[in-house]
Amino acid sequence: ATERTLSIIKPDATKRNLTGKINAKFEDAGLRIVAQKRLHLTKAQAGKFYEVHAERPFYDELCEFMASGPVVAQVLEGEGAIAKNREVMGATNPADAAAGTIRAEFAESVGENSVHGSDAAETAKEEISFFFSGLEIVG
Ligand code: CMP
Repeated sequence: ATERTLSIIKPDATKRNLTGKINAKFEDAGLRIVAQKRLHLTKAQAGKFYEVHAERPFYDELCEFMASGPVVAQVLEGEGAIAKNREVMGATNPADAAAGTIRAEFAESVGENSVHGSDAAETAKEEISFFFSGLEIVG
């Protein structure tokens, strides 16, 4: 089925001018970028987005990092988009990411790993509505 998923190009990647190269990976995999905006999150906004990780030891570091520079939030659409995006991103830790994936090519560490993608249908829906209104998504 056609799905939508929320993607974030993280500050480590926007700083290194990698937005276009990362978008090319999505588009080459058949994912359509149906919404996109560049934002500089506050630490509080990052904290709200990553609320599910609040008890994790890396939560504070994660929120600091996500507020350390611009991010590009986007909605990707396509057949099985949630799984496909996770495939294109590669494993969370770049050391474990398959060759050719975004994280294998661009990520610097498990924390500064260039991209975020929703992990399931329910979270995709919540995460898309965190950043975008219906009017901003043009399929
Ligand atoms: P993401 O898919 O954005 O979802 C949660 C993020 O937490 C994850 O990617 C990683 O970037 C980050 N993360 C996971 N494990 C660690 C860790 N050990 N140290 C720092 N950040 C982490």
